[in-house]
Amino acid sequence: MKRHLLEAGDLDRDDATLVLDTAAQIESALAGREVKKLPTLRGRTVVNLFFEDSTRTRISFELAAKRLSADVINFSAKGSSVSKGESLKDTALTLEAMGSDAIVVRHGASGAPHRLAQWVQGSVVNAGDGTHEHPTQALLDAYTIRQRLGRLDGVRVVVVGDVLHSRVARSNVWLLATLGAEVTLVAPPTLLPVGVGSWPVQVSYDLDAVLPKADVVMMLRVQAERMNASFFPSAREYSRRYGLDGRRMGALPDDAIVMHPGPMNRGMEIAAEVADSARSTIVDQVGNGVSVRMAVLYLLLGGAPDSE
Ligand code: NCD
Repeated sequence: MKRHLLEAGDLDRDDATLVLDTAAQIESALAGREVKKLPTLRGRTVVNLFFEDSTRTRISFELAAKRLSADVINFSAKGSSVSKGESLKDTALTLEAMGSDAIVVRHGASGAPHRLAQWVQGSVVNAGDGTHEHPTQALLDAYTIRQRLGRLDGVRVVVVGDVLHSRVARSNVWLLATLGAEVTLVAPPTLLPVGVGSWPVQVSYDLDAVLPKADVVMMLRVQAERMNASFFPSAREYSRRYGLDGRRMGALPDDAIVMHPGPMNRGMEIAAEVADSARSTIVDQVGNGVSVRMAVLYLLLGGAPDSE
């Protein structure tokens, strides 16, 4: 494993499999325990440095670090000296001077974690940078697929929606390719990035045509906050062509699953009846996120599960 986890491409197949296997080991080590904690990172400090809003990712990293017995500092740009104009570099150096061993960073600028990694001695984990990458989300998605379907190699994954603005889609495309899955992107042409021709994916504009052959459908949130122009005629039109409703879900093979990284726009990209159905792994994804992030922190910061 490299020192940092900045993008899915930092992991080769062995590394990625090691993270998933370690997460599974941690999960079974903690299953049935009353105290859900391992002593592995006792005395180490993990800083959550969040410049963008987050619910599940921030809480998930916090829980992961705490369950490994690390000390956790939660830093959000609001209310800090960032609002006085302090730079990312000075913020990071300040945190490191106080003894942080790892920085988990979410930032609106694509590439911010890479810059950070050049300035600090400890490990940097990218928790989402602009529209670029979100590698731990892809890891927890891969973990969830493997848990439900028993494999990743040859699994047909359809990723649907706002690919253009989605760091989740980018990280998934690269990680799933590394792990041998076959990815098809479905989106309106306006919501596909220019360079998509060089990605290891198929592209389709017809959701109904690809559903009967999918093992996994991963719905993406329409990221209105990153849209500075009109990318589709109306929410209704978007839902009609690219939304997953009960009728469309009925076209899936019997054991296919439906995923969404959250937060969802219920009724837009995904209907409530689909999000709440037995095929949906949305709640499992959140739970698996904690185990996978524990595995990442453990592997980056060293130590062995169940040892001191
Ligand atoms: C995603 C994100 O922030 O990139 N959410 C998440 O981390 N679970 C996806 C999104 O915001 O749509």
